[in-house]
Amino acid sequence: MNLFGHFDDAAREYVITRPDTPWPWINYMGTDDFFSLISNTAGGYCFCRDAKFRRILRYRYNGVPMDAGGRYFYIKDGETVWNPGWKPCKTPLDAYSCHHGMGYTRITGEKDGLRAEVLFFVPPGARCEIHRVRLTNTSAARKSFQLYSFVEWCLWNASTDMENFQRNLSTGEVEVEPDAIYHKTEYRERRDHYAFYGVSRPFDGFDTDRETFMGMYNGFDAPQQVLSGTSGDSVAHGWSPIASHRFDLTLEPGASEELFFVLGYVENPPEAKFERPGIINKKPARAMLEKYGTAAGADAAFAALKAFWDDLLSRYTVASAVPELDRTVNIWNQYQCMITFFFSRSASYFESGIGRGMGFRDSNQDLAGICHLIPERARQRILDIAATQFPDGGCYHQYQPLTKRGNNDIGGGFNDDPLWLIFGTVAYIKETGDFSILQEQVPFDNKPGTEVSLLEHLKISFAHVTDNLGPHGLPLIGRADWNDCLNLNCFSDNPDESFQTTENKTEGSKAESLMIAGLFVAEGRDFAELLAHPAVATDPAYIEKVRAAVATMEKAVKTHGWDGEWFLRAYDYYGRKIGSHENDEGKIFIESQGWCTMARIGADEGLCDKALDAAVKHLECEHGLVLNTPAYTRYIKDYGEISSYPQGYKENAGIFCHNNPWVIIGEAMAGRADAAWRHYCKITPAFTKDQALRKVEPYVFCQMVAGKDAARPGEGKNSWLTGTAAWTWKCVSEFLLGIKPQYDGMLIEPCIPAAYGTYKIHRRFRDAEYDLTIHYTGRHGSHFIPYAPGRHELEINL
Ligand code: BGC
Ligand code: NOJ
Repeated sequence: MNLFGHFDDAAREYVITRPDTPWPWINYMGTDDFFSLISNTAGGYCFCRDAKFRRILRYRYNGVPMDAGGRYFYIKDGETVWNPGWKPCKTPLDAYSCHHGMGYTRITGEKDGLRAEVLFFVPPGARCEIHRVRLTNTSAARKSFQLYSFVEWCLWNASTDMENFQRNLSTGEVEVEPDAIYHKTEYRERRDHYAFYGVSRPFDGFDTDRETFMGMYNGFDAPQQVLSGTSGDSVAHGWSPIASHRFDLTLEPGASEELFFVLGYVENPPEAKFERPGIINKKPARAMLEKYGTAAGADAAFAALKAFWDDLLSRYTVASAVPELDRTVNIWNQYQCMITFFFSRSASYFESGIGRGMGFRDSNQDLAGICHLIPERARQRILDIAATQFPDGGCYHQYQPLTKRGNNDIGGGFNDDPLWLIFGTVAYIKETGDFSILQEQVPFDNKPGTEVSLLEHLKISFAHVTDNLGPHGLPLIGRADWNDCLNLNCFSDNPDESFQTTENKTEGSKAESLMIAGLFVAEGRDFAELLAHPAVATDPAYIEKVRAAVATMEKAVKTHGWDGEWFLRAYDYYGRKIGSHENDEGKIFIESQGWCTMARIGADEGLCDKALDAAVKHLECEHGLVLNTPAYTRYIKDYGEISSYPQGYKENAGIFCHNNPWVIIGEAMAGRADAAWRHYCKITPAFTKDQALRKVEPYVFCQMVAGKDAARPGEGKNSWLTGTAAWTWKCVSEFLLGIKPQYDGMLIEPCIPAAYGTYKIHRRFRDAEYDLTIHYTGRHGSHFIPYAPGRHELEINL
C-alpha cells in the first residue's frame, strides 16, 4: 500500500507523488554549518550553526494547519493563484511531485499549462540556500503570469521571537536593493550578522512588511498582493519583516525561464560591519549572489553537493538479494546518521530547535553512524563533548552548538552519560586507527587551565561508575540512565515541574540500574582492550583494575540482576525490584535484555538465550519490540515520567526503536540469525507496508512507533533525530552484514538468514578499499582481515 510515494534508488531519492501526506514528510539540507529543514510542501526553516540562537526563517509551531512558514513561491496566472508545492494555497494541481534527495529537495507543480520546478539545496561550504525556479510553458499559447517569492524572517533568537513582542514588534529593519532584500534586525547594535534573499534578475516589485503583503486579515493561503497582482513595495520598520519579490513574466509555448534565488546568511567582522553609517556591508552577500545566482554557479554548486554525497555513500555499500536492505544500508540509514550527527536531537518536526542542544549521550552514540564517513568531524565532536565533562566524571547532559558550553536545561546527573564517551571514542579509534586522539588535552567544563588528556577523561568516566555503586554492587542510576523517563529519585507530584530537571533526591537512594551495569561490562571490556593495545600501552596494573571491576560487575548482575527468566531492569529508591515477574506492571524491560546480552553476561549459563527468548515472548509485537510490558496504567510517583505516558507510547511500552538494535545485536552475538533479521525488518522503514498508518516519513527511522497497548499500534512519531539511526547502522553494518572495524583490521562476522547469505560489500577502511564477496551459510564464525592500504578483493566463506 504505497500510497504517497516510492523510492528511486538509482537517484538516491524518495519521490512523493501527492502533497497531502499524513504528516509533513521532510528533508534536511546543509553539510557544514548552515542547515535547513524542508517539508514536501516547502515548509520549514533554516539557521546557521544553532537552531535556537541563529534562526533565519520564522516557523510556526502549533499552527493550524500545521507546517506554516517556509519558502513559498506563488504563481498568479489569470485569476488562479497556486503554489508549486501545493501549500499554502492548496489550489488543486494538475501534477505534483517532491523528490527528497541527499541534501536537496525538488518540488514540481503544474497547473493550466505552466510547470514550476523548484530545486532547493545548500551548497557544501556555503551559508545559503539556493532556490532554482524553472518555469516552463507547457501549453500551446503564450502565457503571461506573475511569480512571487516569500519568506518571513525570524528575529534571530527562535525562543524570544515567539515571546517578547513588546520589543520584537519595534526592532525589525531591512534594506532593499533592486535584486535583493536584506534582513538586518539588531545589526545596528550587537549583532554582526544579517540575512538576505537575492535573485538572479531585478524584480518588478517587492514587499518587506508582512501585513502589507498579506493584508491584515489574510493568511499565507491568500496574500492580498498576490491576489491583486501587485506589490506594496513596502519597507518594514518593526512589526514582522519578510522578503517577497514579484516578477511579471511572459513565456512563449514550450519556452522556459530560470530564476536563481539565494537565501543567505552573512557574518561581518566588527570593524567591517557597515559600508557607511547605517548601511550594512553587503560585499559578502554580493559575492554569494554572484557565485550562486547564475545557472553556471548554481549548477556547479549542485554538482559539488552530489559529489559530496557520492563520495560518502561509496564508502560502505552492499549488493544483496534484498532491495529494502540495500536501499537502507546504501542510502537512507547512512544519510540519517549524518543528519543526527549534525543536529543531535535539536531541530526536527518533533524537536523545536529551541529546547535541546547537543546531547552528551546522544551525540556520543551518533558517532557510531558517521566515523566511517567524516572521521575528522567525529574527532572534533569527541573533543567538544569531552570538554563538557566535570572533574568527577559526571557531565552536562547537553551543550549549545553555538557556544559549545554545557548546560542543565534538560537535566543533569544521568549516570550512564560518562560511559558513552568511552563508547564514542572506541568507535572512532577502531574506524580510524587514530590513537593520537587519546593524547589530546581537553579541559573540564570548558575551563582553561584544567586540561588533561582524553585518555584521562575516559578513565574518570569509567571511575564515575565504580565510584557510584549501590547496595547490590550495581551502578546507581542517578537522575536516570539511558531511559531518561525512569526517574527513580524524582518523586514529583507537581505538574509544573519537568521530570527531567526537577530535584533529584539521590542522597540515600538505593536506585540501581541493570542497563548501566550491562553498558559498563560491555564498554569496560572495550576499554580494557583499548588500554592493552600496544599503541596505548597503559600501566598493566590499571588494566587489571578495569578487568577486575568488569568481572565484579558481571558477578553482581548474575547474583542480583537475574529474575529467573530475564534480567531485572532496576532497583528503585527503596531497593525494590523493577522489571521483575514480581511486579504487576512493567515486569520486563528491553534495555537490560539488550545490554546484558550484548555484554554476554551469563552466556555460558544460558542467561542470554533465556533473556532473548523472553524478549521475543513478552516484548515482540507486530511492529517491533516494545520497551516494557505490561505498560503502566497509572502514574507512579516513584517511577516518574515513564508512567506519565499513556500505555503504548514513548517510554511506556512504545516501540522505542533506539533500543531494538540492542536486542538484535544480542541475538546476532548469540548467533540467532532468524530472530535478529525479523526484529530488524520490523523497525526498518523500507519494509513498512502501510504508509498511512506509519504516518511519518517512510525513508527514515523514527524514535518511537506506538506499541501493542496503544490506541493505534504502528503509528510512528519523532522521525529523523533519534539514536535509532546510529544503532541500526551499527547493527546492520557490523552485526548482520558482519563488517566490524578493529584496531588493526576488520573482523568479518555475519549473522543473517542463510537465504540472504550471499552478498557483496564494498568497504573503504582508512587508506584501503575492500571488495568482499561473502557467503554465509549460518555457521557462526569469523574471519579477520588485517588492515593493509590498497585495494583488496576477497571471497569469504563462512
Ligand atoms: C522524552 C524523552 C526525552 C526527554 C528529553 C522526555 O519527555 O520522553 O524521550 O529524551 O524528554 O528531555
Ligand atoms: C530520547 C533521548 O534523546 C535519549 O537521550 C534517551 O536516551 C531516550 N529518549 C530514552 O529515554
